[in-house]
Amino acid sequence: MSKEKDTSKLWGGRFNEATDAFVQRFTASVGFDLRMAVQDIEGSLAHARMLHSVNVLTPAELEQIEGGLTQIRQEIDAGNFQWSIEFEDVHMNIEARLTALIGVAGKKLHTGRSRNDQVATDIRLYLREAIDRIAGELTRLQHGTIELAAAHSATIMPGFTHLQTAQPVVFGHHLLAWNEMLERDYGRLVDCRERLNQSPLGAAALAGTTYPIDRVHTAAALGFDKPTENSLDSVSDRDFAIEFCAFSALLMTHLSRMSEELVLWSSAQFNFIELPERFCTGSSIMPQKKNPDVPELVRGKVGRVNGHLIALLTLMKSQPLAYNKDNQEDKEPLFDTIDTVFDSLRAYADMVPAIKPRAEIMYEAARRGFSTATDLADYLVRLGLPFRDAHEVVGKAVAHGIECGKDLSEMSLTTLQSFCADIREDVFDVLTLEGSVSARNHLGGTAPDQVADAVLRARSRLQARQTP
Ligand code: ARG
Repeated sequence: MSKEKDTSKLWGGRFNEATDAFVQRFTASVGFDLRMAVQDIEGSLAHARMLHSVNVLTPAELEQIEGGLTQIRQEIDAGNFQWSIEFEDVHMNIEARLTALIGVAGKKLHTGRSRNDQVATDIRLYLREAIDRIAGELTRLQHGTIELAAAHSATIMPGFTHLQTAQPVVFGHHLLAWNEMLERDYGRLVDCRERLNQSPLGAAALAGTTYPIDRVHTAAALGFDKPTENSLDSVSDRDFAIEFCAFSALLMTHLSRMSEELVLWSSAQFNFIELPERFCTGSSIMPQKKNPDVPELVRGKVGRVNGHLIALLTLMKSQPLAYNKDNQEDKEPLFDTIDTVFDSLRAYADMVPAIKPRAEIMYEAARRGFSTATDLADYLVRLGLPFRDAHEVVGKAVAHGIECGKDLSEMSLTTLQSFCADIREDVFDVLTLEGSVSARNHLGGTAPDQVADAVLRARSRLQARQTP
């Protein structure tokens, strides 16, 4: 069924038939890309000023465009802007409004530009701002983690492998392990920002433009380090969005691992920490419950972030150069990733400094699990036994301990000597938890002195960060 020509479309010239009403809704992106309105206006202002500088726009036309875009910005900020799917996306909504406001000069804004380089520019600007906000929250979380570690550089807890008690560590050491994961995430984020920060503006539809544009001018005006190299690549590249989602998937994986530990530790069975009530919720049926909802929810949100990474990789796979409408599908996964990562970091940055470890319970747990068995083996090695034999001797002592319900440090010297006659009274120095952690006194080890030094290094790395 053919319909009357629709004269409102900015690209309507070659069409004789109005867009199908469903297709109009199906192809519109304004419902989600209006988020980039501020960036779209900034990009347009930079483009218009550059066009004026190369004499494509007159001073009067530039003035009108600047005035119109400023008014549109105010309308958007005030919530008065009428977004319409008739104009498909954020770019054409703003352009249509500009022309409605200032007439002919508004129609000149799109000279030497395409929505293809426009949208690529807008996403980069939007993501760059989001990265800076996320970097701030990540730094805040790291700060809280490091300071909690500083307060607990001598708080002993069991260290685990296979979730079985392995060797004693200090709580601060465990927290600094989290910080290392987050430090690498920060590095990836900075790296992503650096590659992202190039201006695609001027690539136009795909091949560049016949106007004497100055791409260095627009790049500088928009805070980009430089213009992108190749016009085809400029409009088709979405690597930066994928890189950001890859950073996000890894960060969320780390937050999820931290969440898993917080959930375990705050359970009645572990009881290692207290999570403040403001980060927990109750149960509607079981009055005794205090559920660790924030860590659980963050752990659960990894799913959607991983999904968005796969969505973007799949979106780009097999796309021929240069721009394809497929790319409109990049925004929702990217925006949701930004929101999810920011909110998760915010919750964590608020919560981590408020974690209260229960030092005595952690200490007791470390004492119960034969966590100093390796220390006894190392002691025997110092007496001259080959490590494998020492391992065997200690294994027997542990088996005895399990049988009679005693930790190695609770056995008498005579009992210990029944496993190896050379053992002397000084064995009890290494069987204590304090002796065990203090003996791991080297770079990266869990000795309280080493952890205190590691805190200093972690702090100075954080201080050396340049806020973009
Ligand atoms: N809304 C589009 C997007 O998100 C803008 C670019 C459209 N370009 C085009 N040639 N149809 O990708």
